[in-house]
Amino acid sequence: MKHLLSTADLSHSEAVLILDTTAQMAATQAREVKKLPTLRGRTVVNLFFEDSTRTRISFETAAKRLSADVINFSAKGSSVSKGESLKDTALTLKAMGADAVVIRHQASGAPYTLAHAGWLDAPVINAGDGTHQHPTQALLDAFTIRRHLVSDSVGADLRGLKIVIVGDVLHSRVARANVHLLHTLGAHVTLVAPPTLLPVSVETWPCDVSYHLDQTIDEVQPDAIMMLRVQRERMSSAGGGFFPSPLEYTRLYGLDGRRMDRLPPHAIILHPGPMNRGLEISAEAADSPRSVIVEQVSNGVAVRMAVLYLLLTGDHSEATQHPSTPA
Ligand code: CP
Repeated sequence: MKHLLSTADLSHSEAVLILDTTAQMAATQAREVKKLPTLRGRTVVNLFFEDSTRTRISFETAAKRLSADVINFSAKGSSVSKGESLKDTALTLKAMGADAVVIRHQASGAPYTLAHAGWLDAPVINAGDGTHQHPTQALLDAFTIRRHLVSDSVGADLRGLKIVIVGDVLHSRVARANVHLLHTLGAHVTLVAPPTLLPVSVETWPCDVSYHLDQTIDEVQPDAIMMLRVQRERMSSAGGGFFPSPLEYTRLYGLDGRRMDRLPPHAIILHPGPMNRGLEISAEAADSPRSVIVEQVSNGVAVRMAVLYLLLTGDHSEATQHPSTPA
């Protein structure tokens, strides 16, 4: 594994290795070993062409907890706003000695270009590209599900679990990343969305598809339900409308107290954030004891520590031993 661009590239053993390494990283953080020396002297560049709160801050936190130097680059306020290309930006980062580049970009495929165009020698990590992929989000979701519903044991996967993902699949890189990763880890995924918010390509994805949330909850009895953000900004920029209307969407696809009561008692609720409270999820559901949404954010730091560690050290065989040595 030289880069992390898509969950579709991960084998079962690579995905499990990342989850196992994440468990080790989370254990060091739980022991209040805040800083590990593992990446001392390395430089991680966070290259964000699109807005982010969780992903950008957690990559920065993860790199610093591994003792790396961090350069935060935001397109706003940089020479990108003067028209500088991705190639020239990449060559500038190479000249400054970047050891890893984390990139979020509005264009699907931009991380792939950065990784394979020959502009950089460093590992590239996709922090979300257009509507395509968000692999570290899917990994933190899988880790959260594994921790709650399976165990932190080395080698554990998600075999046999039933996961329902609900909402704006059309614009969701989180949904694409999760469908591939959860399938690789042995879970059964059902997507629920209005027909207008499903891509044509969904027919080729390794999952079931439904238009009816109540019926799906009753029939599937999911172990976990993941609510997707309705991405109104991508709808208006594409010149499209939002159909069904927001009120109708909430009535048919929103997770509220009534729907929460139909879930099995052990089922957990996930959302990648940021949430549209009152649209795809009610405050009652988001703040309920079943919700693991805040925990997803904490687990995001451990996942990103694991990914940076594995890509920058390349020492996969001892991944579960090295990271726990405190600075
Ligand atoms: N989940 C997620 O990617 O959130 P941010 O856009 O805040 O990074």
